[in-house]
Amino acid sequence: MTSFAPPISALKDAIVTDVSAPVAKRMRAIYYLRTMENEEAAKILMLGLNDKRNSPLLRHELAYVLGQLQLEIACNVLESVLSDIDDDVMVRHECAEALGAIGAIRSKNILKMFANKKDEKIEVTETCEIAHNLILWNERGKIGKKPLVCACMTPYNSVDPAPPSEEDHLSILELEKQLGNESLPLFQRYQAMFALRNKGGDAAAAALGEVLIKDQSSALLRHEVAYVLGQMQLPAGANALAESLRRLNEHNMVRHEAAEALGAIVGEEEKCKILLEEFLNDADDVVRESCEVALDCQDYWSNLNNINDVNDSMQSIKIIKEKSKEQRTKKDDNDVA
Ligand SMILES: [Fe+2]
Ligand SMILES: [Fe+2]
Repeated sequence: MTSFAPPISALKDAIVTDVSAPVAKRMRAIYYLRTMENEEAAKILMLGLNDKRNSPLLRHELAYVLGQLQLEIACNVLESVLSDIDDDVMVRHECAEALGAIGAIRSKNILKMFANKKDEKIEVTETCEIAHNLILWNERGKIGKKPLVCACMTPYNSVDPAPPSEEDHLSILELEKQLGNESLPLFQRYQAMFALRNKGGDAAAAALGEVLIKDQSSALLRHEVAYVLGQMQLPAGANALAESLRRLNEHNMVRHEAAEALGAIVGEEEKCKILLEEFLNDADDVVRESCEVALDCQDYWSNLNNINDVNDSMQSIKIIKEKSKEQRTKKDDNDVA
């Protein structure tokens, strides 16, 4: 994002008041709040997360950013949404991950409890297991056993759910094997994934893409692989992401992350745009909204415009959606005929 930021009152309106505004506009507001990195911004994000009128996609993004801000004042809200077993599973997952990113000792118990809860949804138990492990890993650091991995050693500025593998001698193939190995703990597989991302380059992206397509053990792991491919922005990851989005029986968390990652690929923008437009009317709301956000993201970076220009972008998305709906109706009519 550029250094331009709308006034905080406008950002608050976009998150708290104007709940029917286009999702892309509201997503931009979230990211401006992220850049502010202060409690005032966090309080707005918390209000949005607590408001169930907001879509699961938006709420999970609010939780994600709260984790990235790493402010302990968010723990109460994150823990209460995680504990609400009737709430959306993607939102609860993101709350658990955010708690891991914040890393407060107070969250250890709740994360451990949900990691071991028998009748809990798998997306939640797996995330809690990883987040709990991350806090333990960080604690080991405080008594001197934490390996030397710091922000300056990775080109990405995200707070990740796990540190990269400590075995830097491992080849891309060996890391790919670890990532795909169902018998290893998820935390270790995540470590291999972040090591691959940090290695960078086409071969690492292709290895991640292989796992995205072949893995059948964990939708959570696949969604994170798709996220990482979006961070890498390499065309070498695009085919696997496209295949993942096209799989209608894939978990919507994975398809969502694949769609958003496709919006970030640099060098194959047109190809990715056509694909994202194809899914603008997907039956799954999370996927449909993710395609809108991804197209807006492409538009943002190609025009380097600001929050006010989102209306132009939303207007073109609206036209494309209507066109594709028309085409679909025509096709259905023909099928009936
Ligand atoms: Fe996630
Ligand atoms: Fe996500």
